[in-house]
Amino acid sequence: MKFDGEIIKRRTFAIISHPDAGKTTLTEKFLLFGGAIQTAGAVKSNKIRKHATSDFMEIERQRGISVATSVMSFEYKNVLINLLDTPGHKDFAEDTYRTLTAVDSVVLVVDSVKGVEEQTRKLMEVCRMRDTPVIVFINKLDRDGKQPFDLLDEIEKELRIHLHPLSWPINMGKDFKGVYNLYEKSLLLFHANQKATEDDIVPIKNLDDPSLPKLVEEKNAIQLQEDVELIEGVYGKFQTEPYLAGKTAPVFFGSAINNFGVKELLDTFIQIAPIPRNRETNVREVDVHEEKFSGFIFKIHANLDPRHRDRIAFLRVCSGRFERNKFYKHVRLEKDVRFSNPYSFLAREKDVIQEAFPGDVVGLFDTGNFKIGDTLTEGERFYFTGIPTFSPEIFREVVNKDPMKTKQLEKGLLQLTDEGVAQLFTQHLGNRKIIGCVGDLQFEVIQYRLLHEYSASVQFNSLPFFKACWITSDNKTKLDEFTRFKTANVVNDKDGHLVYLAQSEWFLNTEITNNPDITFHFSSEVHK
Ligand code: G4P
Repeated sequence: MKFDGEIIKRRTFAIISHPDAGKTTLTEKFLLFGGAIQTAGAVKSNKIRKHATSDFMEIERQRGISVATSVMSFEYKNVLINLLDTPGHKDFAEDTYRTLTAVDSVVLVVDSVKGVEEQTRKLMEVCRMRDTPVIVFINKLDRDGKQPFDLLDEIEKELRIHLHPLSWPINMGKDFKGVYNLYEKSLLLFHANQKATEDDIVPIKNLDDPSLPKLVEEKNAIQLQEDVELIEGVYGKFQTEPYLAGKTAPVFFGSAINNFGVKELLDTFIQIAPIPRNRETNVREVDVHEEKFSGFIFKIHANLDPRHRDRIAFLRVCSGRFERNKFYKHVRLEKDVRFSNPYSFLAREKDVIQEAFPGDVVGLFDTGNFKIGDTLTEGERFYFTGIPTFSPEIFREVVNKDPMKTKQLEKGLLQLTDEGVAQLFTQHLGNRKIIGCVGDLQFEVIQYRLLHEYSASVQFNSLPFFKACWITSDNKTKLDEFTRFKTANVVNDKDGHLVYLAQSEWFLNTEITNNPDITFHFSSEVHK
């Protein structure tokens, strides 16, 4: 079909990890291979360092960096790669979850010393919701980490995904010798602090090759033979279908900082990672090959600098060709909109673009027309699904310190929550406003922005809730009854849907058991 040539060239993905596992380092190495940057250290980490948790200016500085590196597009071996960055700090996890709705696959980085960590688990849960294909990169092999078979077991068990190693390490830490590529049947030799070159790749026809003990020492050669025999026996031949279905994750071992095993990962990635795929809407599946344009907004970035009060909405193209200056339908607002300065994120430059294709991400200047999940089409009415909102983890009541500014406060709260900075809930009785966030930092951001952008001064009071569940039922009487009895705990989200706020796991489980007619959902997707 018309845009097939463009579609098969594209791979849109994200690198995700628990903070400090090596996401930024790996990103940088990918960009070096893609020629998007020339020197190591050119990509500033967009993570907010631990010591900066209460330093607001630091947050803003980091946010500035993060928008510049939000999408990094580069070409590698004629493949156009769109790498979507995700914030490393856990307080901005919502942002990461939403970015994952816009990618077609992910590379998950695991620290070989620490194994599976809290964020690794959460991120994997989000990937599982959409069966996103995952490649695992086990990093920091230059350190003494957990044994590779133990790591595989741990990851399989904790992340509930089948693994299939495509490379295998020979020792680790100071005895690290290199990795054997099970896919290409070649050996990559490791020299600390030295960039791996083509000369370090030794093709090995079989593991009885007499050169092997010379290259990696005899005991390591024997160990490798045993390991590979075991792996081939257990895992068999690698198949791409289970990977593309999100059921099996290929695994690579390496050391990002030493640029070791990274090229192998990237080379395999461009071979097996999915091209942009069809997407579900509330009406029908949109075929990526359709000629008519469609796309959705997955992220909104507001500039906190009052001199540049611009917002950038990130649009993921799902089908057809997006064109500059052409009118498109903004489905929620039922109006036609056009964009005179859409830009792409090629390398580090923001370039105004004329067109974009499925898999691409376009930056649109926005004056407040968009909220997360908004869909643009060439006239058809549908919404892309699979852009859920998850339960916040911290809840606070909003206390208006300046009643003269009530209107500004309401407007500010609505706009900030449209951007996805936080979730807003309203209690039935007394119209009390509750903000839910994933981390403390967001409350700081909200307080600051309400004051500086809307002249509204607020204070937050802690509330004893730990989870929000969207509630639905076929039995209206039962739902009404529950809502009436639990007035202190039942609130409305911004779209008017009923939400139960639970004080603890015990309360939640009790309500679930006591109210079999009511379904408790852990994401808002049910309403789409
Ligand atoms: P993140 O984005 O996932 O949070 O991780 P990042 O890449 O910033 O890496 C976290 C730390 O781990 C960094 O050290 C980085 O240099 C180190 N690192 C990354 N890959 C490897 C590896 O293969 N081996 C070893 N030994 N370390 C690795 P840092 O001291 O926290 O930061 P920096 O001062 O080096 O930037």
